[in-house]
Amino acid sequence: MSENRIQADHLRAKVMDAESAAALITSGSSVGMSGFTGSGYPKAVPLALAARMEREHAAGNPFRVKVWTGASTGPELDGALARADGVEFRLPYNSDPIAREKINRGEMEYFDMHLSQVAPMAWQGFLGPLDTAVIEVTGIRPDGSLIPSSSIGNNKTWLDRAGQIILEVNRWQNPALEGMHDIYYGTALPPARVPIPLVRSDDRIGEAYFHCDPDKIVAIVETDVPDRNAPFTPPDDTARAIAGHLLEFLKHEVKMGRLPEHLLPLQSGVGNIANAVLTGLIDGPFENLTAFTEVIQDGMLDLLDSGRLRFASGTAFSLSPEAAASLNARMDQFRNRLLLRPQEISNHPELIRRLGCIAMNGMIEADIYGNVNSTHIMGSRIQNGIGGSGDFARNAFLSIFLTPSIAKGGKISAIVPHASHVDHINQDVAVIVTEQGLADLRGLSPKQRAAVIIENCAHPTYRPALADYYRRARAGSYGQQTPTLLPEALSWHQRFVETGSMLG
Ligand code: COA
Repeated sequence: MSENRIQADHLRAKVMDAESAAALITSGSSVGMSGFTGSGYPKAVPLALAARMEREHAAGNPFRVKVWTGASTGPELDGALARADGVEFRLPYNSDPIAREKINRGEMEYFDMHLSQVAPMAWQGFLGPLDTAVIEVTGIRPDGSLIPSSSIGNNKTWLDRAGQIILEVNRWQNPALEGMHDIYYGTALPPARVPIPLVRSDDRIGEAYFHCDPDKIVAIVETDVPDRNAPFTPPDDTARAIAGHLLEFLKHEVKMGRLPEHLLPLQSGVGNIANAVLTGLIDGPFENLTAFTEVIQDGMLDLLDSGRLRFASGTAFSLSPEAAASLNARMDQFRNRLLLRPQEISNHPELIRRLGCIAMNGMIEADIYGNVNSTHIMGSRIQNGIGGSGDFARNAFLSIFLTPSIAKGGKISAIVPHASHVDHINQDVAVIVTEQGLADLRGLSPKQRAAVIIENCAHPTYRPALADYYRRARAGSYGQQTPTLLPEALSWHQRFVETGSMLG
């Protein structure tokens, strides 16, 4: 692509500055933004919109919008709009600290949903009308089709559904991204839905570009701003121990003939531990690996570089600034090894089940029966959201959850008698790994699970108290299928709330 990023002459007249574009968004409207993790989100219009909101608020005029995205975004979007007190409703995933505080103070409505379900739900009409789409692209081709940028998320759906479209054409995005996207236009609502024709993680089933009605484009804003993903912390002893247990387990599964020697397509979740596990695979014996995942993070790139990973598809790059610079410098090398898809495809239950993904996700806590909490601290404060963990956990060939056994310097045990909130029921959880060890829960009843989770995964500081609770629950519980002492089951969390430690 030439350096002229807007090659459609018929659209040139729509180029304007971010302030003029933001002026086209009205208070109370729904705005579908691009963006998935710190990648591919609009960086100028949301900032201008936030500035406008602050001016309106100062003049005594409330100005708030409903924000829909792919997942989390960057500080110029979620951070700026939340700081301006400009978001009345947000979906489907957030990791911005300012927005998190507003949500937890009850000042922002937050609909935390499975990421695969956002686009279908928008099409079904359950989310209401979408007034404006604000979408970052790498460029506009002569025929008006759009070259996506570093994430796809829900962009196709927002472009199709919105009443008006604002495009941000970002020169920072590498023109070599052209051709590294696979936009599937074959989804439909029941009863017209048909099978999705993807049978291998490297299949292409769609097109490299977005289409959109040129008459709906009301503004085009040119930018030159980098994506902003937070750096990962380098793997510490805990992360290395978790990765080590997982690696041993995978080797054992291959030896037992339950996994093929090249494993099955990997999915790796957000967060430092999930990233560390990928780095751990570099030292493992597995080759010719593939990934069918949501985010392509630093560890995935390292695995590609090592030659262990042959191919990865996801919906977004989620790379630290260093890894993003490294990818941008060598994008051509990865042309046939990386592919971005809409999140309704990257996270599609039908495809995850068909491909037999190995899902590896972080969590907040698990209870002794294997119910997993990915989202809530002490049952009521949201951390981020469920993201794609539910899409993958229920449908994967192997659903694995990872966490350090303790949090907050040991004041909290990640293994508890009763999860304070459940995102993944025990039937969706096959394996739990902490730095203490690994619990293989497949084929186990709740009581059998409790024994192995306490023994293998709990931190030694908490193991005796958990074992004591479990013994007493065996003796005094109302039923013996899932022995539980109510209300003692949640008293660990209450103890932390009251005394600052689960140790009391
Ligand atoms: N109780 C209280 N707080 C806890 C906790 C627990 N059991 N476990 C973790 N935390 C806190 C940490 O202390 C940290 O707090 P801080 O930011 O104040 O330091 C925060 O939660 C994040 O934990 P961290 O150890 O940095 O974890 P992470 O980066 O590995 O992320 C999740 C873990 C669960 C937050 C993250 O994986 C997530 O958001 N998952 C849900 C979405 C998902 O799985 N998406 C992937 C699908 S593709």
